[in-house]
Amino acid sequence: MEKKHIDWANLGFGYIPTEKRFVANYKNGAWEDGQLTSDATVTITECAGVLQYAQTCFEGMKAYTTQDGRIVTFRPDLNAARMEASCKRLEMPVFPQERFVDAVVRTVEANEAYVPPYGSGATLYIRPYMFGSDAVIGVKPANEYQFRVFVTPVGPYFKGGVKPLTIRVCDFDRAAPHGTGHIKAGLNYAMSLYAIMDAHRQGFDENMYLDAATRTYVEETGGANFLFITKDNKVVTPKSDSILPSITRRSLLTVARDYLGLPVEERPVAFSEVADFAECGLCGTAAVISPVGKIVDHGKEICLPSGMNEMGPVTKKLYDTLTGIQMGRIEAPEGWLRVIR
Ligand code: PLP
Ligand code: COI
Repeated sequence: MEKKHIDWANLGFGYIPTEKRFVANYKNGAWEDGQLTSDATVTITECAGVLQYAQTCFEGMKAYTTQDGRIVTFRPDLNAARMEASCKRLEMPVFPQERFVDAVVRTVEANEAYVPPYGSGATLYIRPYMFGSDAVIGVKPANEYQFRVFVTPVGPYFKGGVKPLTIRVCDFDRAAPHGTGHIKAGLNYAMSLYAIMDAHRQGFDENMYLDAATRTYVEETGGANFLFITKDNKVVTPKSDSILPSITRRSLLTVARDYLGLPVEERPVAFSEVADFAECGLCGTAAVISPVGKIVDHGKEICLPSGMNEMGPVTKKLYDTLTGIQMGRIEAPEGWLRVIR
């Protein structure tokens, strides 16, 4: 199989249509088998639930080419489980978890020519998603849904790759207590768009959201969880019911504890503690671990000791170990890699 002629090393985080995508429709209370199609367009009624009341959720995961030439995905069972949680919270039918993983595998297989080669710096981003597809005008769930999976080769999420980011404490809230912050609903991202564009206009790379109720605890960014390293090398990550349970963050805690022998703490993190940390990173499928060098709170700068030139040493070890596992250089814990080919 010949790879596509793509300048892998210079890819950004963008959409490049590939050959095949998976589509399954839900109608009369049941999912059809679904199939791969070449048609990258979606045709739905003007009154579809997704268009009127934003009834949609999604997942994000990646496929990697390992050092020994296999194609693998990372913990797709956890994405399947999280999508189930999202669907339930949004009154959408669950696409069964085994079938979710199977659809991901089939879509990656069908687009093998687009899976970036080992060592290229790029990966294949996988986007499973679901939306209400039939007409609703009263505020209620749709009766019909479409589940789809497409893939697209991507480079780093943040321009500049692993250069430390400057973020700001955001005056907008991301998620309400008892709201939808813990699921991957499209609506969480729609309402973050003004905040992220405003951050960019002010010269910041990302927003640090605080808890909406008290604005004293660190939550997450628009697309990643936080990881902090204390001056005595402890790994600390915020615990909150209104952040997305990041699969990358959960995996990094295991990596820290079991591979690097570092103590880990998942607990509420007060914003007032942040100035005492040695390192800070944003973690997620797209972000991997992107180091933060500076956090600006209404003009007051918190400069992390790790600086603005490179990742802090503990963040780097976490990054190298996680990506080593994903690329097959380091042995993965049982069940973490799903071999596609
Ligand atoms: N938080 C938000 C809001 C996200 O959109 C993402 C991306 O998926 C994450 C965290 C990271 O989650 P994961 O590591 O499962 O990709
Ligand atoms: C991911 O990391 O997969 C996400 O969905 C985050 C998004 C900001 C691209």
